[in-house]
Amino acid sequence: MDRNKNKPATKAVHGRGRPKMEVQPVNPPIIQSTNFLYESIGQYKRYLEGDKSVFIYSRYDNPTIMEVEGHVADLENADRALIFSSGMGAISSTIMALVKSGDTILAGDTLYGGTVYFFRDVLPRFGVETIYFDSRNFDGAEKYADSRCRILYIETPANPNLRLTDLKAAVKFAKANGLFTIIDNTFATPINQNPLDYGFDLVIHSGSKYLSGSSDLVCGAVAGSDELAQKIWDYRRLLGTNLDPSASFLLLKGIKSLGVRVERHNQNAMAVAKYFENHPKIEKVHYPGLESHPQHLLAAGQMRGFGGMVNIELKGGQESSENFVDNLKVILNTVSLGGVESIACIPVLTSQYGLSDEALREAGITPSMVRLSIGIEDEDDLVADIEQALDTL
Ligand SMILES: Cc1ncc(COP(=O)(O)O)c(C=O)c1O
Repeated sequence: MDRNKNKPATKAVHGRGRPKMEVQPVNPPIIQSTNFLYESIGQYKRYLEGDKSVFIYSRYDNPTIMEVEGHVADLENADRALIFSSGMGAISSTIMALVKSGDTILAGDTLYGGTVYFFRDVLPRFGVETIYFDSRNFDGAEKYADSRCRILYIETPANPNLRLTDLKAAVKFAKANGLFTIIDNTFATPINQNPLDYGFDLVIHSGSKYLSGSSDLVCGAVAGSDELAQKIWDYRRLLGTNLDPSASFLLLKGIKSLGVRVERHNQNAMAVAKYFENHPKIEKVHYPGLESHPQHLLAAGQMRGFGGMVNIELKGGQESSENFVDNLKVILNTVSLGGVESIACIPVLTSQYGLSDEALREAGITPSMVRLSIGIEDEDDLVADIEQALDTL
């Protein structure tokens, strides 16, 4: 027998070498490797010359991550997508790649709190300011789009109040004023809405939500043209906001069921929103699928489904919203959204915690507001849970 003559410590590290096999697993192998081997320096040089089939280091690129990037790019009808360690990693790396000192960002006045804090607490240190406006209406917004303004940044439906921005109007406005257009499409998902088809430059996702769908990982994504993706890739490489291969495997597993999950989220959210609409203890329901939503027609025109997020305002202020959430039994009392499980949270205590009273007022966020992420459970059980929690008020 041809025994390996190496000493034990060397055997432990190198074993018998990698077996040569012809395998095509249905699921991608989790290539949990920091670095990649070369058959020769010639092969390494091919990487330097731009050959994308040669890998070097997993902070730059990794085959498991790249496979998921292909899925996200296709879902968003983009040339290329990049996956990040979080939604905030995607947002911060994208913005850093596109702005320079002296620029301004024109942003919709309702955004996820973390994005607002990044714009408020980080960007000004690099000379970048953000101006907020009500993106439900572009009339008069030209006054903000001076020569310093570089980016139009919106969410639609927005977190947490589900206000909409007209995608066509946004692109028309941005093109007329020479702005990049970026949209956080987390709430809608690519199943319900594809902003790149309307001419948006970049779409961002917190992949921690619907894309992964099981509340089991934190990740993010950005999708757009090859040229923009390459610029952002340079920043991801330097800022180190890449995702780990094992987490990328989980993300892909989640993405494969996105279509059926979102269909169910859409149906359940509509049922729950209709129930709230007729309830005497509810002041307002915000759900773009309801005809009573002031932007329902816009939603029907630009979305294929109305999503899983429902926002309510209870009669009786914050005391009512707290009691309601505390009394839910099936719907979980926690933060985040987009998982298979239904979740309720109070935006002034969670995603929008710490924003000024003025910022909350402009965004129409009240203490009696409860944001519900409606999951894929049985619709009857969700409505029954809501009913019994409202009965306790
Ligand atoms: C709309 C939206 N965008 C971005 C983020 C940030 O994503 P992550 O928590 O994955 O960093 C969140 C998180 O809640 C969000 O709701």
